[in-house]
Amino acid sequence: MLQSFDERNADILVNINGELMHRDAARISPFDSVVQGGDAVWEGLRVYDGRIFRFRQHLDRLHASAKAVGFTVIPSHDDIMTEVRRTLEANGMRDGVHIRLTLTRGEKITSGMDPRLNTKGPTLIVLAEYKAPVYDRSGLVLATSSIRRFPRHMLDQRIHSNNLLQSIMAKIEATNAGADDALMLDEHGHVAETNATHLFFVHDGVVSTSDVVACPEGVTRSVVLSICEADGIPCTVRDISLEEAYAADECFCTGTMGELAGVVRIDSTTIGDGAIGAMTDRLSARFAEVVAAEAESVL
Ligand SMILES: Cc1ncc(COP(=O)(O)O)c(C=O)c1O
Repeated sequence: MLQSFDERNADILVNINGELMHRDAARISPFDSVVQGGDAVWEGLRVYDGRIFRFRQHLDRLHASAKAVGFTVIPSHDDIMTEVRRTLEANGMRDGVHIRLTLTRGEKITSGMDPRLNTKGPTLIVLAEYKAPVYDRSGLVLATSSIRRFPRHMLDQRIHSNNLLQSIMAKIEATNAGADDALMLDEHGHVAETNATHLFFVHDGVVSTSDVVACPEGVTRSVVLSICEADGIPCTVRDISLEEAYAADECFCTGTMGELAGVVRIDSTTIGDGAIGAMTDRLSARFAEVVAAEAESVL
């Protein structure tokens, strides 16, 4: 699914360290850490009718990621919420909006990777765009990537950083294979996630997903797990081989960008009967209910 340009985003204002600028004028310095080394952490947020789903949980993950990579100054949740609100208000945005929230280590006094060169504090970027859930609801095709996710002892993927080359290279492989996204394995050959979302499988009515050993914690993933628990749907977190993935009755991926989206083929294997499954539909509907009931007001 190739995203296309949405005309409603032609004149949006982008917030960089509190300054709201037209998208064509919005710029960060070539000395910024994200330019110098991908040295930044980020979150994707979704706005539903003036409310953001699991806003605090996203900000907790942003804070934990920034702390894990040693940012010395991290804006408070309240300060970030204020800038998000200002950005939405300035753009008159209320619904169907996705926010890319980026916190970089900030500008350096000279080029280089040493964080001691950062003397100006972090850079906070709030980029809000009109964006419907990005995945095609008729079902996704995944292609297994030759690129594997780092294990925790190499680079803990729970750090939600802007070092995205691993994912981008996997996405290129998937595109070349004619697929929508890449299925990525961990160092042992178990399913880790896709290049951008978590993966769930259904076998004989039992839902399963991988542990977060080679992928970030997921906000959407955690909601699906709690729905299963609340509704008495059998659910396990375990190692899943590629063969088990092929043999699943259903498969779906989860993420803020695309919510829940069914997968109908992995490599050359059709999943189940090749249509979106009943459990995927049921959990998608329940997810929408939870969002409607629990999204936090920001406007
Ligand atoms: C690599 C990766 N996997 C999965 C996800 C989905 O996580 P969430 O449900 O919190 O959006 C993301 C989202 O940013 C991601 O970057």
